[in-house]
Amino acid sequence: MNGRIPHIVQYQGSKRMLASEILRYMPKKFNRLIEPFSGMAAISIAVAFQKRANEYHINDLNEPIVCLLQTVIENPAEIVDKYKRIWEEQFNFPDGHIEHFNYIRELFNAGDKSAENMLYLLARCVKGAVRYGKNRNFNQSPDKRRNGTKPTTIATNVHAISHILKGRVLFSALDYRRVLEIAKPGDLVYMDPPYQGVTNTRDNRYFSGVNFDEFVSAVAVLNRNQVDYIISYDGICGEKEYGSELPQELNCTKILLDAGLSTQATLLGKRHTTYEALYISQNLSLPIDITQRQLTLLESVV
Ligand SMILES: C[S@@+](CC[C@H](N)C(=O)[O-])C[C@H]1O[C@@H](n2cnc3c(N)ncnc32)[C@H](O)[C@@H]1O
Repeated sequence: MNGRIPHIVQYQGSKRMLASEILRYMPKKFNRLIEPFSGMAAISIAVAFQKRANEYHINDLNEPIVCLLQTVIENPAEIVDKYKRIWEEQFNFPDGHIEHFNYIRELFNAGDKSAENMLYLLARCVKGAVRYGKNRNFNQSPDKRRNGTKPTTIATNVHAISHILKGRVLFSALDYRRVLEIAKPGDLVYMDPPYQGVTNTRDNRYFSGVNFDEFVSAVAVLNRNQVDYIISYDGICGEKEYGSELPQELNCTKILLDAGLSTQATLLGKRHTTYEALYISQNLSLPIDITQRQLTLLESVV
């Protein structure tokens, strides 16, 4: 399934490659998918591609990201055209394409947070990693080896995404807790909060940190309100566990997804498979073939 699902641009932490696995735990059909931590909305796009939900709520605290998604879905021709113009401009730039990236980044930081500027920065920056400095400025560097996704590839993907989602999405750029307040039975909430990080230092890979206890309380409210949800939360790579477990009193089922070989470990000369945890709310039924395989996996890696 992954090969055919359209995607806009690389985004650090994207669940694109795990989408088909994650969708196995969702009901065949449901009314509304709510993604409070949408990033590039890989899961909303995959669900829409399979026509599983009628409506979608895409939310991310990072407003330019939401503006980009909204423009892609509602005005595809406009973003395709504007991206092409910016992308081509880099070859005419007197000091080369790195200078051009820096110029667009300066425009963005000076206040022009248009969808096309965000798209170009994501397409050109290292690992598609959105990083902001203390002054809230976008400070990620350009990937010097690449010129960024070609406009023709962007055009194909953007039109495909707009085709499956246009007219069905509510967009917002709020803290996730505000979005959870509107969830009701019949909705499915998919949450992919920023990782808790692999060290004790503050993880600033994402726009904002999420407090663990506040997150657990927000999930408990979903339980009380009988809203179904799926959470991607932490992971295991080799012997290292990332992040804290979600507490048992939430009554979720924990599943481990095989996310493949860790690129970080491979760079260090080790071969470690990464497992990403998925927490499934109590009322969602599990696919029949999953239970035994997962129990064995949990026993072997935990
Ligand atoms: C792991 S990424 C999500 C990736 C996404 N699943 C995808 O496939 O592209 C986490 C996202 O949470 C957003 N975020 C961080 N703090 C947030 C908050 N308090 N409320 C809503 N979104 C938040 C970040 O901007 C980031 O885009």
